[in-house]
Amino acid sequence: MKVTVAKLKQWKQQERPIAMLTASDYAMAQLLDEAGVDVVLVGDSLGMVALGYESTLPLTLEEMLHHAKAVCRGVKRAMVVVDLPFLSYQESPQQAIHSAGRVLKETQATGVKIEGGYPAMAETVKRLVETGIPVMGHVGLTPQSVRQLGYQQQGKTPEQSDRIFAEALALEQAGAFAVVLEHIPASLAREITQKLSIPTIGIGAGQACDGQVLVTQDMLGLTKQQPPFAKTYAHLRETMLEAFRQYGAQVRSRQFPQSNERI
Ligand code: KIV
Repeated sequence: MKVTVAKLKQWKQQERPIAMLTASDYAMAQLLDEAGVDVVLVGDSLGMVALGYESTLPLTLEEMLHHAKAVCRGVKRAMVVVDLPFLSYQESPQQAIHSAGRVLKETQATGVKIEGGYPAMAETVKRLVETGIPVMGHVGLTPQSVRQLGYQQQGKTPEQSDRIFAEALALEQAGAFAVVLEHIPASLAREITQKLSIPTIGIGAGQACDGQVLVTQDMLGLTKQQPPFAKTYAHLRETMLEAFRQYGAQVRSRQFPQSNERI
């Protein structure tokens, strides 16, 4: 059965943790779905890990739609959520409705994710939800603000921590169906999770969140450098490098293809 917004809320009530991972192509999406991952995020981190940009900022809505369509074709059960790229929603609620509307009209995704909270984004979330567009929020470390915040942990001072708490609450009040908490102290993530009735999905935010998310290329060990909070479940970079080296060597030494191999 397809994972729905109502299902995520039910899982929070039942204290059944939610597993979310990112995907940027059809093959990866198929694997995540087959493995039973609950939510597949077409995260704008794909700008860095799949397209080689130095941050998420250059990614366009057209690029995102291209990847989101491929991911949706690979998924049967999981919920697909698509990040709205930098400057495709911040200008006005109308711009956000237009961009998110394109995601819903042109892909099979359930909803969109946007970064930031109070006050501007809460108003945008409200308008999106009124339009019938499910929205996942994202507070704490918000990579689209990298030139303002860097990639360091957020919420360490009382002022920062109060602001993140208020942002998460404002997102819930505006109608968001879940909120990502990125790279904040575990104690703050726990307080937010206890206060909200919508699920929190943590990344570098401790154990208390209602779900967890990682960038798939990080957890597979495909990226050269991973954030401090990422757990590496496989070391595919080495495995793939070895396979490519072996292939090159065998082609050059004419070991592949073998004369008796079927063609
Ligand atoms: O873009 C992304 O992959 C994300 C996750 C890190 C939550 O937003």
